[in-house]
Amino acid sequence: MSTNNSVMTDYTSTDDAAVVRLSDGKIILQTVDFFTPIVDDPYTFGQISAANSLSDIYAMGGRPLFALNIVGFPIQKLPNEILSEIMQGGADKAAEAGIPIVGGHSIDDNEPKYGLVVTGEAIEKNIWTNSGAKEGDQIILTKPIGTGIISTAIKKEKASSKIISPAVETMKTLNKKASEVAQKFTPNAVTDITGFGLVGHLIEICKSSKVSAKIYFNQIDLLPGTLDLIEEGIMPGGSKRNLEHAEKFTNFSSELSYNEKLITCDAQTSGGLLITLPPKDAKAFLNDFGNKANVVGEIISEKDKPIMVSL
Ligand code: CO
Ligand code: CO
Repeated sequence: MSTNNSVMTDYTSTDDAAVVRLSDGKIILQTVDFFTPIVDDPYTFGQISAANSLSDIYAMGGRPLFALNIVGFPIQKLPNEILSEIMQGGADKAAEAGIPIVGGHSIDDNEPKYGLVVTGEAIEKNIWTNSGAKEGDQIILTKPIGTGIISTAIKKEKASSKIISPAVETMKTLNKKASEVAQKFTPNAVTDITGFGLVGHLIEICKSSKVSAKIYFNQIDLLPGTLDLIEEGIMPGGSKRNLEHAEKFTNFSSELSYNEKLITCDAQTSGGLLITLPPKDAKAFLNDFGNKANVVGEIISEKDKPIMVSL
C-alpha cells in the first residue's frame, strides 16, 4: 500500500490509528474521526466528538500531542454561536487530554459535522495492537454499552433525561485514564469499541490473535434504559447490520433473545477500551482503574467460530 517503509502497514488492518516510524524506536500515531450531532446541546456534542477522536490514540497506548479541527457548518441557516459552542466543547476536551488544537479547516455544509485529526506519539515496542490476545486472558471493558441505541432514541425524541445524561457522561469521558492505568501492566491486546460494537471489535482481536473468546451477556455493563428502549423497537440500522455480520463469526447461545444479541453488537460512539490481560493483571487493573469496568469474558483457544456469547 505504501512506498514509504516508515509507514507501518502491518497496522493498517485495524480500526485504530495510522502508525509511522521515526528514529530511536519512536512512532507517530495519527487518527481522524468526525460525525454529525448526536445530542442537542452543541457544547456537549463538541466534547463527545473530541473524546471519540482522541480514543484511537489511547487504544494504542499512545500519548496525544496536538489536534486539528474538522468542521462542517450551515453558515446561512444556523447562528455562529452554535459553531463557537461546538468548538469550545472540543477545545475543552482537548485541554483535558493535555493537548492544544492548533488549527483546522471548516466548510459550509447542510448539516453540522465536527471532529478532530489527532497526532500522538508512542514507543514502538510498547504499542498495543489487536493481535496479541492469549488463551486465558480476561477481557475487560472500561465503559458501559448502549450509546448506539440511546443516540437513536435521542434522535427519535424517545429518550428521557434520566436515560440521556448517563449516556452523555459516558460518551464524553476520555479513554485517557483507562489507557494510563493499562500502561502499568502489559495488555496483550487493546482496541476501542466504536462502530462495530463489542462483538465486532472482539472478532477483529480474535482473528488477528488467532484465538477465540467467550463472553457473558450478564457481565456486560449496560447503560440505564438500553434494554427498555430496544424493547420499544429502537434499533439502530448500524447495529442491525453489525449483528448480521457478527452471526457468521459468533455462536450465540439459544438462551439469548434477539434484543440481547443486538446489544452485544450495538454500534458505540466514544466507547470504552477492550483490554485483554492475564487474570492477575486484570484484577489489579480493575482495582487501580477505580471507574466502573468489568470483566466480560475470557480468551480461549481458537475454535471454528471466534466468538461465543452466553447469558
Ligand atoms: Co478504534
Ligand atoms: Co476511529
